[in-house]
Amino acid sequence: MRILVAMITACAALAASASNATAVTVPAWLFPMNAPPPAVTPLFDRVKPLHVPRSRVTFTEAQLNDLFSAPDWFPQTHSAMPDVVARGRAPDVYACGFCHTPGGQGRPENASLAGLPAAYIIQQVADFKSGARRGAWPASYRPSDRMIQVAAHATSEEVAAAAAYFSQQHLQSHVRVLERARVPRARVVGSVYAAIPGGGEEPLGERLLEFAPDPVRHEHRDDSMRYVAYVPPGSIGRGKAIARSGAGGLTVACVACHGQDLQGMALFPRLAGRSPTYLLRQLFAFRTGARAGPAGQPMRAVVESLSIGDMIAVAAYAASLEP
Ligand code: HEC
Ligand code: HEC
Repeated sequence: MRILVAMITACAALAASASNATAVTVPAWLFPMNAPPPAVTPLFDRVKPLHVPRSRVTFTEAQLNDLFSAPDWFPQTHSAMPDVVARGRAPDVYACGFCHTPGGQGRPENASLAGLPAAYIIQQVADFKSGARRGAWPASYRPSDRMIQVAAHATSEEVAAAAAYFSQQHLQSHVRVLERARVPRARVVGSVYAAIPGGGEEPLGERLLEFAPDPVRHEHRDDSMRYVAYVPPGSIGRGKAIARSGAGGLTVACVACHGQDLQGMALFPRLAGRSPTYLLRQLFAFRTGARAGPAGQPMRAVVESLSIGDMIAVAAYAASLEP
């Protein structure tokens, strides 16, 4: 009942605000992409045992590049993975845990799944499969293209097993959100930003850039690392006002559907403590219609009146909260 009232109130407010819509271009800085890798890595490097801090496990580079095996550095941080999460099924169903990490904590270039409702996860995979949900970037973007490939080939039993598993895991924050006018000059490492050593700084402007503080740990798929997201000064406070009250009629308060402190409510997904890169991409996807699944219709109107700065702000605020 509470949810129904929230929905009705929200929809009435949306009807009033829907006319402020303006066209929007998805910014390239939100999709850092790697140059193609060198043709062959010397065999010597590919078989050397690699480590990450605080884990006793070792993997070789060849193992870390195997999309049919989720590199499990910290087995004690999650329950036993079903087969589809740990190994997937060749040739088309890559291991969910390879990208989303074994415990579903996700990475900035994909999505956290830990603690999302199982029915929500199943619906999203169905939307990727039907084409109702695409990535926000209008051209090819490998992580999202591969997600769509997995969705197209996974059986309903595999999706159900993965959904049940991920819904039982506990999300932890893997990002620190910092307000800065100037940020390190960046290069791209594994679809995220990393500081160029000795490269100095540049103005951030109206952008949200998520950095791997240790690019080697990112490349090794260390799922205990915390990323750093730089946002313009004032973003978190502005985002809080939008999320809690709709910022004086700009849009509907996000908390009306996403729950108190954006912790999620019924089938409305949690936003708190998730990667702000992921959240911002989704806001653009709703805005452009790239994400247009049946359950997502309310979001289309919610984002319509938001400027890019507003979207950065609300993604920054949500990401700054503890899940
Ligand atoms: C090759 C990497 C990769 C693999 C493997 C993968 N995913 Fe994804 N997944 C992604 C990316 C990238 C996104 C974000 C796509 C976007 O919105 O652009 C995503 C998004 C999702 C979402 C949406 C989350 C949300 O909050 O709405 C769900 C659910 C999901 N994946 C489930 C799965 C399941 C289940 C599997 C295994 C059967 C799987 N994924 C395997 C990369 C992957
Ligand atoms: C009227 C209810 C409603 C309101 C208000 C609302 N949302 Fe949503 N939101 C939804 C629903 C429903 C979904 C799931 C959509 C789907 O199934 O594709 C969603 C999904 C999202 C997602 C994608 C999450 C994921 O896991 O992929 C983001 C990000 C989001 N909302 C942000 C916001 C923000 C920011 C606000 C406030 C400015 C907001 N929402 C207000 C209903 C709402």
